[in-house]
Order: sequence, then structure tokens, then C-alpha cells
Amino acid sequence: MLIRRITCGRALPLSIPMATSPLFSHPKPPSPSSSLPPRVLSSSRSFPFSSLASASPSKPSSKRANPPIAALVEVGGVKIAKDDVVRESDPTNNVPDNIFSKIGLQLHRRDNHPIAILKNAIYDYFDTSYSSKFVKFDDLCPIVSVQQNFDEVLVPADHVSRSYNDTYYVNADTVLRCHTSAHQAELLRDGHSYFLVTGDVYRRDSIDSTHYPVFHQMEGVRVFSPDEWEGSGADATSYAAMDLKKCLEGLARHLFGAVEMRWVDTYFPFTNPSFELEIYFQERWMEVLGCGVTEQEILSRNGRKDCVAWAFGLGLERLAMVLFDIPDIRLFWSTDQRFTSQFSEGKLGVKFKPFSKFPPCYKDISFWITDSFTENNLCEVVRGIAGDLAEEVKLIDNFTNKKGMTSHCYRIAFRSMERSLTDDEINQLQWNVREAVQNKLHVTLR
Ligand code: DAH
Repeated sequence: MLIRRITCGRALPLSIPMATSPLFSHPKPPSPSSSLPPRVLSSSRSFPFSSLASASPSKPSSKRANPPIAALVEVGGVKIAKDDVVRESDPTNNVPDNIFSKIGLQLHRRDNHPIAILKNAIYDYFDTSYSSKFVKFDDLCPIVSVQQNFDEVLVPADHVSRSYNDTYYVNADTVLRCHTSAHQAELLRDGHSYFLVTGDVYRRDSIDSTHYPVFHQMEGVRVFSPDEWEGSGADATSYAAMDLKKCLEGLARHLFGAVEMRWVDTYFPFTNPSFELEIYFQERWMEVLGCGVTEQEILSRNGRKDCVAWAFGLGLERLAMVLFDIPDIRLFWSTDQRFTSQFSEGKLGVKFKPFSKFPPCYKDISFWITDSFTENNLCEVVRGIAGDLAEEVKLIDNFTNKKGMTSHCYRIAFRSMERSLTDDEINQLQWNVREAVQNKLHVTLR
């Protein structure tokens, strides 16, 4: 669980364990069996979620849980029809309606939104430190090929992130990008040597205050030509690693002030060596980003054979939650004026004032699991019914009986950020969740 999360993830202000660890990072390079994250166990039993979706899903009774969805969205001038992205009857597709509805919303391009305020603060740092040399992309289409998302950044064929349990597939060759690294290779091929890519990224995931299936990342890449390091006395890799660390320490100071920092060695498929930067903030060590010296193979495959480069990736929600004191990742999607009116362009770090606190309501659900059961699939069903009213889904009991049957009990917390939920509404939601869990996941309710 820990390992498959993102650098680029999202976080609870004070304790961020899940959101801190990168999707692609491992303490060591993966050998087929030993170093794959624990999550692989469940992922290896995963199935294309929508292959089971032919069982008729029950419709949620609460219209407010799932607002109507547009049939057409536009990103970077490209029109995307819902039918092109959501195809319930296609076993190679696992994109649900509620995910499609997020494409094109582009929170990172709304100047008064905390995600965009943070993006712009990072832009300012790069503009000032590099005389505006970094070219900025924030409108690249999030629908990319498997090749872009995985192959071109050397993600191994058996990596957990490629599974249908973890990634949204439009079809066998096309995904909703799960990281902004998906654009590295094409931009290198296009000849860019300094670039920043900001965008929405998509991952099937658990449900809690720091995890949401859509969030935002920024990727940065800088390429050096031989004349830049020759004569420095350092070899190309050390030169790039030194420059990278200096640049990112400066960025962390720009965002967080004079904080203590440390570098942690890690693993990413696309960089070598690879690092994570941590800062000591609000009395704990917090991971800020993942980075490293770009694998030579990526450079040589993309016409930059003699060069060396560094790259980094960071999760905007994670950092924004800490900088703005935003306690729940769902709030970023709120259109409630009491949220949106608190932020304005250029004002990084204004502290969010909770406008009201509504009580959560807890409902338990127990069932005998099947071999193909995964928690991500359960969460997908719960989100499909309850939308953003689902605050957390947590395993609270797990046992195997003498016959070898395994039972799971999950506690679902329902809570709206904006209003009180009625008992009737919650009971209906829970009823619909039970029905859908049974129909779609083929588990036996207890
Ligand atoms: N793509 C990584 C993730 O989503 C983040 C990342 C790490 C990007 C290191 C980079 C990098 O460019 O060098 O977890």
C-alpha cells in the first residue's frame, strides 16, 4: 500500500504515511519476486473491473451523490466524448462515469484554486532561477498510450502500476495517465531541454482523506549538453545530480521557508540514481518529491544520446494540503463558495478555515471474498454509488475460517463536506453499496 503511492500523491497535513511514498519508488530495484510492493499480492489477483460490470449496477437513489455527467469534454482543444472513454461492456475498459466527469476540469488552470496557486508559485521559482528558460505545459491530454505512460519511461512489464487494479484503461493500449512522467519522452523528442508538465493524473485507489482517484502532478526535466559539465571536474551523472539537488532544495525553501531537509535514496524505473527529498515540517519528516538523473536509455531513444538530464515529479495536492491546511483531499473538488472564496491568485499558504463540520456516519459491510477481490475494486464500487460522500473505506476485520473462506469487514464513513446527510439518505446509499458490491464483485454478503 505504502509503496505504490505517489510522490506525487496527496497528504494529510500532519500524518501523511500513505500519500508520501511514490508509485514507482522501491527501496531497491525490483527483482521479480523479492522487492515488489505488498500490494502486488492483491494486484496479481486483479481483474479488469468492468469485465464484471455486465451485472446490472443498481442506480444510486441520491441524485446529489452523483451529479449528471457531460457527454463531451474538451482538453487542449481536443474534444473527448464520454462514449470514447467509458465503455461498460468492453472488458478492456475500466473507466467509470465519475472519473470521466473529472477530465477537462483542470483545477490546475484555475488561478484562484489552491492547486493553481501552488503551480504558479513553482513556476515563479523556476522563472526566477532560470531566467524563464523552462517551457511550461499544462494542457496536455490526460489520455495517453500505454507506451507513453509506461514503456517510454521504462516501467517494467510486470510492474504493479500497469495492472487493471491500479490504472484506468480506456482500452488495452490506452490509459488515463497515472503520472505526468508519461510526457517526458515525447517532449525530449520534440527537442525541449527545460520543461515543466502539470496535469491531472488518474489512479484506482483506496478511499481516505488523502487519496482520491484524480489528483495533480508536476514534472520537471532539465537536459545538459556535454559542454555544460565538461571542465567542471565532475562526471556527467554527478554533475546532473548536484545541480538537481541544488535546484530542488531551492524550490523547497521557496515553498516552505528555511526548513531542514534530507535526501533519501530510492528507486524509480526512469532515473538512476533516484532520490526523494524530505523536509522537516510541522514536527515531522515529509516527503516533498521524487527525482533523479534520467536513465540514459530514455535520452538515447529520444535523440539526446550525448546528453545527461535530471527529472523530478511532485504531487500538488499533497503539498497544497500542508501549505493551505486543507484537511480532506475531496475539498479540492468542492464548488462550495465557502471553500472557493478562501483562495486567491498569488496567495500561497493562506490557511483554510473550515466553514462547518458535519458528523460522519459509519456503516459496516461484511462479506466472504473471492480470489479476484481487491480493495481498489471495492472502493471503485463505493465511489460509484456514494461519490464524494464516501470519506473513508477501512478494513476493520479479516479472518479465514476452517474451510479456508476469508471474510472481510469494511467500515465506510459517509460524510459531506458541505451539508448534513439524512439517515434515510445514508441508509439508501449503504443499501445500494451492498447491492452493487454483491453484483459487481461477486462476493457473498454476510
Ligand atoms: N512519476 C513518479 C510518480 O508518479 C514521480 C517521479 C519520480 C517523477 C521521479 C520523476 C522522477 O520525473 O524523476 O511516482
